[in-house]
Amino acid sequence: MGKKALKQFNETVKFLKKQYKETPTVGIVLGSGLGNFVEEIEIEKEVAYGDIPNFPVSTVEGHKGKLIFGKLSGKTVVAMAGRFHYYEGYSAQDVIFPVRVMKLLGVETLLLSNAAGTVNPDHKVGDIMIINDHISFFTPNPLIGKNIADFGPRFPDMSEPYKKHLIQKAKAIAVAHNYDVKEGVYVAVTGPTFETRAEYHFIKVIGADVVGMSTVQECIVANHMGMEVFAISIVTDIGIREDHTIITHEEVLEAAKQAEPKLATIFKELVAAI
Ligand code: HPA
Repeated sequence: MGKKALKQFNETVKFLKKQYKETPTVGIVLGSGLGNFVEEIEIEKEVAYGDIPNFPVSTVEGHKGKLIFGKLSGKTVVAMAGRFHYYEGYSAQDVIFPVRVMKLLGVETLLLSNAAGTVNPDHKVGDIMIINDHISFFTPNPLIGKNIADFGPRFPDMSEPYKKHLIQKAKAIAVAHNYDVKEGVYVAVTGPTFETRAEYHFIKVIGADVVGMSTVQECIVANHMGMEVFAISIVTDIGIREDHTIITHEEVLEAAKQAEPKLATIFKELVAAI
């Protein structure tokens, strides 16, 4: 599997290097409802996922499904408009394929974003939370299987999955803009069901602040390959609540869309400061 996988990565990277000659150093993954961020990028090349050899194809509503190359804050970036989720039926290997490709293209810093439900009573819908740690036990670890030594070690350290110096910079940016930015722990679940009331309580008890269906597998692989990771959750729904409201995908997308300008500012200024 190791050799076959390497061959696929090389094929994909060769294809993309033909499409876009410059070397992106920053990678960006846009979460549900956050696709408008691409308007911040001076786009130089767009490649639809369906045209990229070995790329999975995104299906979920709210995702555009293309790789975008261009400039952001003077840096060369590659952005995924639409990511691959485990709940769509992709394997963990599929989910992380683009992240490895980004690294092989030259990306050193990976910025991740997502919509998430909160179990922290200090949070409200529309808040942005900088992720400072995660819990990955409920989704398959993408590094299970034969280790590709060219990519990283068998047993990677995960003591700083989200880089402190990037968190500090982002907090300073948020403060400068008067954003009420939160910081905390993200737990990844498979979805596609939102959590039951009992599950949200469980998530709180185990030490998480927010819960979502993405990000962690990407973060693991990026750490494995030695990339620096920064991630933001947009709080889109309240998991622990007394009323009898339900949670819908539409409200998640709407809340993410509303908060997107704050995320855009933080990402733009963080990229400038990298
Ligand atoms: N749970 C899981 N994933 C999510 C949620 C949630 O409440 N909100 C947005 N993504």
